Amino acid sequence: MRDILPPESGRWSSFVDVFRSTVSSAGYGQVIAPLLEDIGVFHRVGEATDVVTKEMYDFVDKGDRHVALRPEQTASICRAFVQHRPATPWKVWYTGPNFRYEKPQRGRYRQFEQVGIEVLGADDPDVDVEVIALGWDFLGALGLRRVTLLVNTLGESSERESFVSSLESYLRSRLGDLSEESVATLERNPLRVLDSKRERDQAVISGAPTIMEFLGESSKSHFDRVLRGLDLLQIPYRIDNRLVRGLDYYRQTTFEFAGGTLESAQNALGGGGRYDSLVEDLGGPATPGIGFAIGLDRTLLACDDEGVFPAFDLGIDVFVVDTAGGSEALRLTNQLRREGFRVDRAFDNRSMKSQMKAADRSGARYAVILGEDEVRAGTALIKPLRSDEDQQSVSSGDLAARLMEKIQ
Ligand code: HAM
Repeated sequence: MRDILPPESGRWSSFVDVFRSTVSSAGYGQVIAPLLEDIGVFHRVGEATDVVTKEMYDFVDKGDRHVALRPEQTASICRAFVQHRPATPWKVWYTGPNFRYEKPQRGRYRQFEQVGIEVLGADDPDVDVEVIALGWDFLGALGLRRVTLLVNTLGESSERESFVSSLESYLRSRLGDLSEESVATLERNPLRVLDSKRERDQAVISGAPTIMEFLGESSKSHFDRVLRGLDLLQIPYRIDNRLVRGLDYYRQTTFEFAGGTLESAQNALGGGGRYDSLVEDLGGPATPGIGFAIGLDRTLLACDDEGVFPAFDLGIDVFVVDTAGGSEALRLTNQLRREGFRVDRAFDNRSMKSQMKAADRSGARYAVILGEDEVRAGTALIKPLRSDEDQQSVSSGDLAARLMEKIQ
């Protein structure tokens, strides 16, 4: 787990700001769910997946409850829906940390941040398109251009089950041609074998049955309407029938945003899909749902790779330099902050030279210098730090107005 320091932490906040602005303008409201839930909330995320069986941070609390730190937030949102019964369609967004005991590496951490949306209570394929389009537009708003949208369908429960059982028989018939790791995966979750990037498995995978052979009319038409909607919005996509999402709850439409530059195992910037039985499994009424989550950590790495959405400095306007004893700096700094300027200052009565260095490091556009002479005369010196404008002596009373003219 990592510490995130400035200026990177500022970039994190801006990332969430861009997301908030993208989704709140589409009518999504924020849900802030607890980090910790009863472990039962997460079981439906996938009893056959590593996320639940191996990677959960779970423990028994002082009240003898078996709880877990959330490995993702879709299950928490569905739990909140069941508990509060809001009117549908319920369109919500979220952000915050999640925890998975994975092997840390570039783009994969034990505490990682997501932004995401969920829509509960609407079956319309147009909702699928809206959700996908918001993810696509958000990544575009960050400046990312090398993102590929992969889409697939898993059909409804019975179709998915027939597909998985036919896939399992097929994989068993080719056991000798599979890698050792995939043989082990097959025991736990045959679908995940399709996810293998290992060379040895590719021939077997390319000959495997696909979900398309098992889809009924209604699933086909749902998927078709999603694709037509994406066409209509001119969002480019690739149909990938081998796209398997890591969690168990998916039905019908699934999708992933793949980054162009990260190494393949970590190139999913985000993904999601429909989960038409999660609310029911958590004790609520049958309610369709769809959403996605985008990983902040990984998406910022993709931004680095594409040279977009850089970290920026703290955005200080003015740095107050005081060589007259300090109390005038205290008053002036506070006054300028109250007037809406972003202001910093030096402490500890440092030398003029050292304070000017600090002013420069702060990124401020102007230093306001208060020497003995200025304090005596009731003036201040405005010294530009980033341009070759002349420095200017102004009376204390005019300082804010002069600075305002310069900074606007
Ligand atoms: P997920 O694919 O498990 O889906 O995670 C979504 C994104 O979170 C990933 O694409 C990745 O960017 C990021 N992520 C996951 N694990 C890690 C990690 N260990 N380190 C860094 N980033 C990571 C979900 O979580 C679903 N809840 C998405 C969803 C919402 N489906 C429907 N609604």
